[in-house]
Amino acid sequence: MIKKKIANIPFGPYITVLAGATVNGKPNYATIGAYGVVSQNPVLYISLKNSHFTTSGVLESGFFSINVPSSQAIEKTDFCGSVSGNKTDKSNVFESFYDDAGNAPMIKECPINYLCKVIQTIPIFDFTMFLGEIVAVYANEDCLDNGRPNALKVKPTVMMDSGYFDLNDKVGSVFKTCNRRPI
Ligand SMILES: Cc1cc2nc3c(=O)[nH]c(=O)nc-3n(C[C@H](O)[C@H](O)[C@H](O)COP(=O)(O)O)c2cc1C
Repeated sequence: MIKKKIANIPFGPYITVLAGATVNGKPNYATIGAYGVVSQNPVLYISLKNSHFTTSGVLESGFFSINVPSSQAIEKTDFCGSVSGNKTDKSNVFESFYDDAGNAPMIKECPINYLCKVIQTIPIFDFTMFLGEIVAVYANEDCLDNGRPNALKVKPTVMMDSGYFDLNDKVGSVFKTCNRRPI
């Protein structure tokens, strides 16, 4: 295998999600790749450009949602990442629902929804990283096996360089495929 050195920029892969917030009393969603876990605690982060409409909503309400769209929703997902709520009302692109635990909209047609309460904000360049404690999680019933989400049913979209990709297959089981006990 010959290794080739390429540009010092992040190419991915990333999972494509929609960050949601209430802005001026309405739901707004921005597509992001910058989200993830930081530890084994029930905390997720999103990183949003300061000028985004969604960012102002998270700062104002102290809550955000992370919605995992299935790859079938790629057109709407790309749309929410291409136009800003600053100029175009995106409140009706998806149907929203809410939970009493916090004021951030979640997307009905996304198979997985996390509602998070901001516990820390980290300014980084012209972005803000919001770390949020998970206060509610929803999943589409038909994406669950024994109460837990099945990735092949959720069909998340992987983004790498300038493309969106589907998941194809399960290739193993965590802590089991290597046939070793975790230490
Ligand atoms: C695939 C994709 C990934 C993106 N990832 C991010 C991201 O991680 N963070 C971010 O701030 N913006 C990201 N964007 C850009 C925002 O989604 C975009 O600027 C959006 O219009 C902002 O909407 P808003 O102003 O209504 O919040 C991404 C866009 C696309 C299409």
